[in-house]
Amino acid sequence: MSSSAELASLDQIRAYILEKNICSDLAKTAKQLVFGEGNPEADVVFIGEAPGKNEDQQGKPFVGASGKLLDEFLKSINIDRQQVYITNIVKYRPPNNRDPSPKEKQEFLPFLYAQLRAIQPAVVVTLGRHSTNCFLPDLQISKIHGQLHKREVTIGKNKVMQLNIFPMYHPAVAIYNRNRRDELNADFVKLAEIISK
Ligand code: URA
Repeated sequence: MSSSAELASLDQIRAYILEKNICSDLAKTAKQLVFGEGNPEADVVFIGEAPGKNEDQQGKPFVGASGKLLDEFLKSINIDRQQVYITNIVKYRPPNNRDPSPKEKQEFLPFLYAQLRAIQPAVVVTLGRHSTNCFLPDLQISKIHGQLHKREVTIGKNKVMQLNIFPMYHPAVAIYNRNRRDELNADFVKLAEIISK
């Protein structure tokens, strides 16, 4: 396998990240890789920022307080976690839960694209500023959440992938902020409408 653009399956992508020791600094301090989980043929992929403490311990994305809220939002639109695919841009926990650096995000981006190419989702939900700005740079989440944005991303040399990006606030902001929780609820209702079409 000569480049991340040639990785066809989710298992191959995971194996490549481990074998090539991608983002080796974070790999050293994290307990394990948190690659992503869910339906490999999902219509919807959710992308967060990076694993936290609980995710690092369990090797699964969104299993702490934010994950509990994400599960509740999904349940509110009658979607089960197993139906969708959930991952993060950065796949190792940054020490002390600091923000992932631009370099760390850049290192993982080709693998995130490869995951999307393997899954071919109808909608990509970016959770929070970091994830949204990977696809929609320079746009403010407060202005663009809950709207569908069509974008093309180039993978490898000439391969172009069309994506429908649907930005939302990160569930973590809804833990203590009632207004954000209401906005997230409303965006999940919009997402349900989009998926049903
Ligand atoms: N926050 C994230 O962005 N991702 C996780 O997996 C958990 C919390």
